Amino acid sequence: MYEITPMIKGEEVHFRLPDPAFYEALGYEGMKDLMYRFYDEIYESSIANFFPQDEEEFAKVKEKNALFFIQLCGGPKVYEAGSQEGDLHKYMIRLHDDFSIYEKSRTEWLGCMETALRHTDIAQSLKDNFWEYLEAFSKLTVNSFTDGSHYYAAYTQMKIDK
Ligand code: HEM
Repeated sequence: MYEITPMIKGEEVHFRLPDPAFYEALGYEGMKDLMYRFYDEIYESSIANFFPQDEEEFAKVKEKNALFFIQLCGGPKVYEAGSQEGDLHKYMIRLHDDFSIYEKSRTEWLGCMETALRHTDIAQSLKDNFWEYLEAFSKLTVNSFTDGSHYYAAYTQMKIDK
């Protein structure tokens, strides 16, 4: 599938957490492989300039990103930054408010993830489930618009469905 629906300013964003079967299929090392591959794509992408240019700093963000997704997807609680804050998603939205993220950046980000997922050898239904989560949640990290406006009301628009 790998469809992307547009982010609409002010619209509620509903999403479900990824199915624990996704993490179970990949395991800890498999999740790391996926996320490292994703960051390799990011490094080559048009949004590479958003990320630290220093190699060591980039490696740190890459590692933190992998740990975040391991925890979020049902693995061990290894993402320290977010764990202290309570809700991981609210923390992610706030963290991304430091960057000017446009819809175009979101499309590029998702494209990097799509490439990484295509290289990952697990059931397509599990990849689709993870994609649905990312496609929806990523809307809440978009905070800048081509009309010059910025929009930070994201928490109140977040609806996590059971
Ligand atoms: C939609 C477009 C997105 C863009 C352009 C983007 C951009 C960025 C940037 C620039 C950083 C680096 C922060 C730094 O320099 O320290 C970052 C970190 C991170 N992003 Fe995103 N991001 C996007 C979406 C997402 C989404 C949807 C998620 C999660 C579902 C996510 C999870 C993370 C995590 C876990 C980190 C590392 C946080 C940490 O340092 O502890 N990002 N992102």
